[in-house]
Amino acid sequence: MEVIITADPQSASRQAALYFKSLLRRKKNAILGLATGGTPVLLYQELIRLHRAGELDFSQSSTFNLDEYMGLGPEHPASYRRFMQDHFFASIQLPAANIHIPDGLAADVPAHAAAYEKAIVDAGGIDLQLLGVGSDGHIGFNEPSSSLASRTRIKTLSERTRSDNAHFFAAGEEVPYHVITMGIGTILDAREIVLLAFGDKKADAVAALVEGPVSAMVPASALQLHPSVRVIIDEAAAGKLQRTEYYRHVFDFKPAWQKQG
Ligand code: F6R
Repeated sequence: MEVIITADPQSASRQAALYFKSLLRRKKNAILGLATGGTPVLLYQELIRLHRAGELDFSQSSTFNLDEYMGLGPEHPASYRRFMQDHFFASIQLPAANIHIPDGLAADVPAHAAAYEKAIVDAGGIDLQLLGVGSDGHIGFNEPSSSLASRTRIKTLSERTRSDNAHFFAAGEEVPYHVITMGIGTILDAREIVLLAFGDKKADAVAALVEGPVSAMVPASALQLHPSVRVIIDEAAAGKLQRTEYYRHVFDFKPAWQKQG
């Protein structure tokens, strides 16, 4: 696990964009695993900027999103499908057929989840998975106590996550209780993972995922079992880590080629 501590969310997002750029240079038809929420917004802005500058071409890539709220259709303002359209897809000329997001209105959820898993495998597997982390240590919507081997399925959100995400919903509107999410096992199958976390609200989760024991109580700690994870955080999110000096040292003394991913 590589921990990269940056001055602010803007620099972290620029750093993360380098890994997307490097992948898409190597593999035009890369399979990207994408996340929603507040954390990746600046990264999407940076990727759009690079696309407009002619430095990034998404036209042959495909995407698989981590999760979706159950009961929300694509036009619902808080649905993740709508989020992705507004924050990213509308600006990057990615063919609609290449976009995959779990269907919050699926009638047969287990069948839909199995088909989602199969679609990832049929596409060749995810090359680069982007993650945020919940204040309780969730990745995707795998809440504490999720199986570390879990696959795409229905999950019930914790009250903490429902309350953390309430600001994405209109005043008085209820945050759904259920979601469809890739499992932790699904996430760990990605060839490369980049996790972003910003702000002191994420400091406990970051410390637990990087330096704590691997435990289903901190789903993100399962990333310690993956051979290629970059955790890119700002100073505030790094606030509770023990070994920040070492992480900075590792980054500063990298060969230049390695910094580019
Ligand atoms: C989103 C997702 C979640 C979020 C996490 C952090 O697709 O899977 O794990 O990454 O809840 O959310 P924000 O970024 O809003 O703090």
